[in-house]
Amino acid sequence: MLLPFFEWCEATTLGRVVRESLWMFPVIEAIHLVGLCVLGGSLLVVDFRLLGTGLKDSTIADLDRQARPWMLLGVAVMLSTGVPLFLSEAIKCYYNTAFWVKILTLPVALLFTLLVKERFARTATETSTSSRWVGATDLLLWFVVAAGGRWIGFS
Ligand code: HEM
Repeated sequence: MLLPFFEWCEATTLGRVVRESLWMFPVIEAIHLVGLCVLGGSLLVVDFRLLGTGLKDSTIADLDRQARPWMLLGVAVMLSTGVPLFLSEAIKCYYNTAFWVKILTLPVALLFTLLVKERFARTATETSTSSRWVGATDLLLWFVVAAGGRWIGFS
């Protein structure tokens, strides 16, 4: 059912230009990786603090406030580089389990971070059982997205 949509994606001008270029895919994927570093770093700083480790001299709310713009920048870079990567090899992604694991987990991770973790961390000061659950769940969801992304290239 979805295959015609993926075929359409692969046939787009952007998909064709990236696919036929010698350097565009690796350059875009390198920026995708830099975006991952910014996103990953901004998530880890807060998740480690929620788990009761990391930068313990700062409160959870303070770290979250400082990390939020970097998290949003990281997400923006990942989405804007992920789409051209995807368009260039959409049919490969259609038949790729790792891609489906990643792309189905991504909205869950985004919603959890923006709606659950952000609301919790905004007012949290000290580590608690709930903060540990929020931090561990956030880490697990984003690990699955990143591992799925990495595995696309291996499978
Ligand atoms: C926002 C969260 C995202 C994360 C954490 C993420 C993570 C990753 C990682 C770790 C890689 C492997 C890079 C490498 O080792 O060279 C990757 C590659 C890739 N990502 Fe993402 N990604 C995200 C968003 C997206 C989106 C939204 C799309 C598509 C719509 C996408 C499509 C791809 C594709 C097609 C590859 C290349 C796979 C290959 O090597 O053939 N990514 N991503």
